[in-house]
Amino acid sequence: GPKGPGQRGGAPPPRRPPPPSPAGSGLPKIPLFSDLPKPAFIELLVKMKMREVPAGQVIIREGQPGESFFVVARGRVRVTRRNDAGREVLLARLRDGAFFGEMALLHPGPRTATVTAEAESQVLEITKKVLDDVISHYPTVATALRNFHQQRLLATCMATHELFQPFNLDDRRRLMEKFKSRNFERGAVLLEEGQPPTGLYILLHGRLVVTKLVDGEEVTLAELQPGSMFGEMSLLANEPTN
Ligand code: CMP
Repeated sequence: GPKGPGQRGGAPPPRRPPPPSPAGSGLPKIPLFSDLPKPAFIELLVKMKMREVPAGQVIIREGQPGESFFVVARGRVRVTRRNDAGREVLLARLRDGAFFGEMALLHPGPRTATVTAEAESQVLEITKKVLDDVISHYPTVATALRNFHQQRLLATCMATHELFQPFNLDDRRRLMEKFKSRNFERGAVLLEEGQPPTGLYILLHGRLVVTKLVDGEEVTLAELQPGSMFGEMSLLANEPTN
């Protein structure tokens, strides 16, 4: 069972909460790792680097490369991203036990958002290598990460794309539930030029190309990255896809 904090009688209360140290009884609660057996969790904690971040400090900056993953041990961080119009939009506030920085690890690329401490916080930093090691022994961690990741991509797309700006947060949440997850093999055609639109899509994982026939030649118009939306033009205009 859980042991007490081990404070000696009469000792003055600590000036601030003790850091979540594996040596104490106050192991941080990290839902992502809740399936790990305790020894594995402690082993992982030892490999994490604790960082104290003052309020206002940027931990991750959108667009920069990054190879580590973070857990909020204590405090509060704000996740923001520039929208299509270049304005900084709030995507989420994350508190004790939440994680961030997984996107750059799941498919290598620049950071998709900026993460800033909103209050003095303690974050645990985990390298990609350590996380990969955990995942190889405990695959359920990867499943949980991917599920969160897909929800976040969807939320981010809806928060930043101008198409969804007229909707409030609740509406957006309800809309999010209408999306269905679909898998496609390499080479599959999702939308075909000249055909009726089949839906509005957001790419969660993988890579897509957009092509158009110009004078009988197939020209590549764009390559879509995860988080991109497509299919909206023909849907809104109620016309065959262009
Ligand atoms: P990454 O792209 O590596 O760095 C920025 C992080 O912000 C990202 O990983 C996610 O962890 C986090 N993030 C991005 N979008 C959202 C969102 N909609 N809600 C919560 N966190 C997000």
